[in-house]
Amino acid sequence: MATYAVKKWVYSLTIFVTTATVALGQQPIRYLEAKKLFVLDIGKVSYVFGINQHNELQHHYWGGRLWRDEDLPATLVSDAPGLDRQEYPGWGESLFSEPSLKVSFPDGNRAVVLHYVSHAIAGDTLTITLKDILSPLYAHLHYKIFPETGILRRDVTIENRTDTPVVIESAQSAAWSLPRGPGYRLRYLSGRWAGEWQLHEEPVQTGTQVLESRRGITSHQMNPWFALDRDDNRDQEKGDVWFGALGWSGNWKISVEQTPDLQVRVTGGYNTFDFAYRLPAKQSLTTPPFYAGYTEGGMGEASRILHRFERTEILPKPGADKVRQVLYNSWEATQFNVEEAGQEALADKAASIGAERFVMDDGWFGKRNNDHTGLGDWYVNPAKFPHGLKPLIDHVHRLGMDFGLWVEPEMVNPDSDLYRQHPDWAMHYDGRPRTESRNQLVLNMARDDVKEYTYQWLDQLVKNNDIAFLKWDNNRYFTEPGWPEVPAENQRMLWVKYTQNVYEILDRLRARYPKLEIETCASGGGRVDLSILRRVDQAWTSDNTEALDRLTIQDGFSYAYTPHVMMDWVTDVPNFNGRSVPLKFRFLVAMQGSLGIGADLNKWQDQDLTLAKEMIAYYKQVRNAVQNGLLYRLASPRQADWSATEYVAEDGSQAVVYSFLHSQHFGRSLPLLRLLGLEERGLYRIHRIDAKVADKSEVVSGAYLMHEGVGLSLEGDYDSTSFFLERIQP
Ligand code: GLA
Repeated sequence: MATYAVKKWVYSLTIFVTTATVALGQQPIRYLEAKKLFVLDIGKVSYVFGINQHNELQHHYWGGRLWRDEDLPATLVSDAPGLDRQEYPGWGESLFSEPSLKVSFPDGNRAVVLHYVSHAIAGDTLTITLKDILSPLYAHLHYKIFPETGILRRDVTIENRTDTPVVIESAQSAAWSLPRGPGYRLRYLSGRWAGEWQLHEEPVQTGTQVLESRRGITSHQMNPWFALDRDDNRDQEKGDVWFGALGWSGNWKISVEQTPDLQVRVTGGYNTFDFAYRLPAKQSLTTPPFYAGYTEGGMGEASRILHRFERTEILPKPGADKVRQVLYNSWEATQFNVEEAGQEALADKAASIGAERFVMDDGWFGKRNNDHTGLGDWYVNPAKFPHGLKPLIDHVHRLGMDFGLWVEPEMVNPDSDLYRQHPDWAMHYDGRPRTESRNQLVLNMARDDVKEYTYQWLDQLVKNNDIAFLKWDNNRYFTEPGWPEVPAENQRMLWVKYTQNVYEILDRLRARYPKLEIETCASGGGRVDLSILRRVDQAWTSDNTEALDRLTIQDGFSYAYTPHVMMDWVTDVPNFNGRSVPLKFRFLVAMQGSLGIGADLNKWQDQDLTLAKEMIAYYKQVRNAVQNGLLYRLASPRQADWSATEYVAEDGSQAVVYSFLHSQHFGRSLPLLRLLGLEERGLYRIHRIDAKVADKSEVVSGAYLMHEGVGLSLEGDYDSTSFFLERIQP
């Protein structure tokens, strides 16, 4: 840990020194009065925009670091008012591309033309105030720079200083303009339940590509992340990439547009679908944060930047500085049949192979014997746990593990005491059928009474039991998103208020119980984004734990999110797809993020338990590099029948390699695996877990490992290996 901290410090210092040398005496955020330009120097990145002759905020540059303000134009000129390079255009004048703000005034007036009013620079933040030319409607644009990673965060507060409510029909967080020109390619993550995180790529063409969720939560189907590169450069480690991620766990939208004159823009914020936020007089609405960055180091570096940013700026402290524990989860072993003796027996086995946390999943509360009943009744089931949870928790503690529990606070089964008492608490439209999914309805968390009730029972649960960890699940999307208890014109505020209230519950719990750790889960990876990650310590990646499927799922996840939060379990076979892959393969796949075990350990033979113990011990040696290091994708599981990843510790002391063979073609050998991110002059000791590394040398130089590479003798079907390098010199 100490070396890691020193290395991080050296890294920051390097950036600082580089920055200081190139731009001696210059503030990282500055306003060039004569040119009316704002210059944001963000580590290796510069971002420039200014005020044009129409008094609009116009984008100028986003890319590699500039150093000479004299190079920038004397004035920004736009051919006509309202054209498509504005930083934050209202819908008005001749804007026909995606607006950042669209408002309807009570008199039917629906144009907003935002002009510059003032700005304030305070350290690493810049706030610019724009105002509609007619009404006292203001937009305060916030920019925050993160020089260590080059990330820029933008959000906007819309302030209604008129005397009447206005209806906001679109409130975006930012519009990002890329260098004008052809040849961009969009990468994004789409998917489905048990098949999240599929990486797609397609050319950007004139028109608009929309990434979005209309499901009330972040969603499995699309994730609010994008990356754009250009000129068909497929090198992982080279080439311009502009990338970003929106932090919103409700309905969101990212529009990627190319205008006929080849201006590419990315606009993102609240989804405009069914959006009508009635903003009362003298009140304001703040959009979700939209984070974005640039690198010339290809997709690999874009991911590493995001990973580091998430660990250092997003994830709650102090968890983000630690390594994640190896956990055991009971779900696949026992489903709803949890009870004291059975859970204790599983805990014994989990502890014996090296697990550090024991998590009891669904089934412990109410009359929860299956998924038809009990959700919403958060008392300990007396038949399953006659003495409460304490005996089990004490047992788990005696085994040296801490204890975690599954909850699904936002949901209710119609067959529950809660629903019988408060049918109006479920989201609904009066008189219409309530669509069930997994036999459950969504509680309307936008209601403050429902929010308060939910906070109170969670608070009691954590206060009365020694719980270190909650797996916070959410197993369905919104349907009938009605809120009949408030006036019709306020009902659509549910889209915003629901998520804000969920955030508030999480924030209050974390403030009251600073040691409590939380996992975000939504039938797998349905709610992972940069704003939920500010409030949780880890994410459940997918319900699909089948190891081969999992390779592409995890690979996709890693484009946007750090392996630190990526929870991966080893489970039993045959699993999804009816496929059975060897236990070693399953372990090595799951070790590429935060390792968990989700199998029925009662079924495991002695040799399985022995292998598990060895694998977990190995993982503990390398997990700091995996979770907190630099990920290099050596061979993608989407492109070939074999794949490999490498993780290098931030301080360079260790590198870990995993490689997987799907199926061998007779007579075809694997190419040498050329490693990345090592020190040319460094000497590395190789630690193997098997005999599959062809080279038998004990010590090899970084230059040899990176230029010549490592031969692997993987053969047959579902073969796998891992080795790690310990840097011994210099
Ligand atoms: C969801 C989760 C699973 C498990 C079940 C319990 O499907 O993704 O991991 O917790 O709910 O009902």
